[in-house]
Amino acid sequence: MQSTQVAIIGAGPSGLLLGQLLSRAGIHNVILEQRSDEHVLARVRAGILEQGTVDLLEEAGVADRLHQEGLVHDGIYIAFNGERQHIALSSLTGGRSVTVYGQTEITRDLMAARAAAGLSTHYEAAGVALHDFESGGKPWVSYLRNGKPEVLHCDYIAGCDGFHGVSRHSIAPDAFKTFERTYPFGWLGVLADTPPVAPELVYAQHPRGFALCSMRSRTRSRCYIQCCLTDSLNQWSDELFWAELRMRLDPVSAAALQPAVALEKSIAPLRSFVAEPMRFGRLFLAGDAAHIVPPTGAKGLNLAASDVRYLAQGLIEHYREHSSIALNHYSARALQRVWRAERFSWAMTRLLHSFPDQGSFDHRLQQAELDYLFSSTAAQTSLAENYVGLALDA
Ligand code: FAD
Ligand code: DHB
Repeated sequence: MQSTQVAIIGAGPSGLLLGQLLSRAGIHNVILEQRSDEHVLARVRAGILEQGTVDLLEEAGVADRLHQEGLVHDGIYIAFNGERQHIALSSLTGGRSVTVYGQTEITRDLMAARAAAGLSTHYEAAGVALHDFESGGKPWVSYLRNGKPEVLHCDYIAGCDGFHGVSRHSIAPDAFKTFERTYPFGWLGVLADTPPVAPELVYAQHPRGFALCSMRSRTRSRCYIQCCLTDSLNQWSDELFWAELRMRLDPVSAAALQPAVALEKSIAPLRSFVAEPMRFGRLFLAGDAAHIVPPTGAKGLNLAASDVRYLAQGLIEHYREHSSIALNHYSARALQRVWRAERFSWAMTRLLHSFPDQGSFDHRLQQAELDYLFSSTAAQTSLAENYVGLALDA
């Protein structure tokens, strides 16, 4: 039988970052992860960090490689109707920028810091189950390690186990409300060793569907195209992917595109989802366990980081000052930010994708909105301040 102060479910970015912040504050924690560490590191996901996320990684002591290898971007491009419009993020937001650094690399840095500090992460923990978190007493977690039953007693549980995790599903269905929108398309993503088509990201709206040219370094690109939810990966050869991407880009970006062998290829569905509240007695949900945004605004990972910031603050204040004020405000504080990011991610998705059920009126409105964005500094400023991340409260 083991015990800890905080049992963290999930070793994605939310769980690892929370563990790191708590450990640095002297709060003991154990992470239970159902997959192997290799599996967690093989998942290619987000790539754009807001300044607030970079600051938090610095506070957690894991930003050295990020500062060496991350690419600071002061703008993005939006391509539409054969033209590419630069949105000058920094000059429109008083100097704020975003940093290109893959989620995989953040995970690697956090895992290395945890291993160096000798902290416990139990990978391949099967059958994780949460107990007594709403009873008023102390909660506990049961799981199987190498096939043997284990029990972990704790003061609090942090459910950082993603959208399909066990934490949200352990809560009585009448104790929370969910809000959801699904989209009639997915994103097909390719990672390849080829130089980016432009020095900054290119988001493209095209009648054939959305496209995005992102990057992981000056020699490695991460590109996405809108695809059908019914598409399978074997339908999309590398050649077909690059040809389709080229067709959806503006001529300048298309001319710079150099097809290369896909190192990774995956299809992700798009979803907006929020569970309210984010606290249930001694269980707190954080990151994708509580909410999902469509990836268009690059907000998923950044939202996970801001949840973790609020939760770590609450737990640190609780243990250091015996005050539960911040913990009691965690859910409301996090949800305010979540809904702002939900709104922005939905708006960017609607602006840039082709909706199969879109009528001619909606299509004209979408074009008028892009036209407005291309011609109005006010519209560009609104996009920029959301993209770089709305200011966190103190
Ligand atoms: P996760 O990263 O999902 O981590 C949860 C962890 O919990 C996982 O390691 C999982 O194995 C573990 N777990 C699950 N169930 C259990 C259990 N029962 N017991 C123990 N452990 C469990 N965001 C962007 O901004 N841009 C993108 O391009 C982008 N692409 C994405 C592509 C995909 C396929 C997905 C799924 C997400 C993508 N996101 C993207 C979102 C972003 O990656 C997430 O917001 C981010 O990973 C959230 O981190 P998290 O730690 O909360 O959840
Ligand atoms: C990436 C993903 C996004 O969803 C996005 O909006 C920007 C960049 C990426 O994987 O690099």
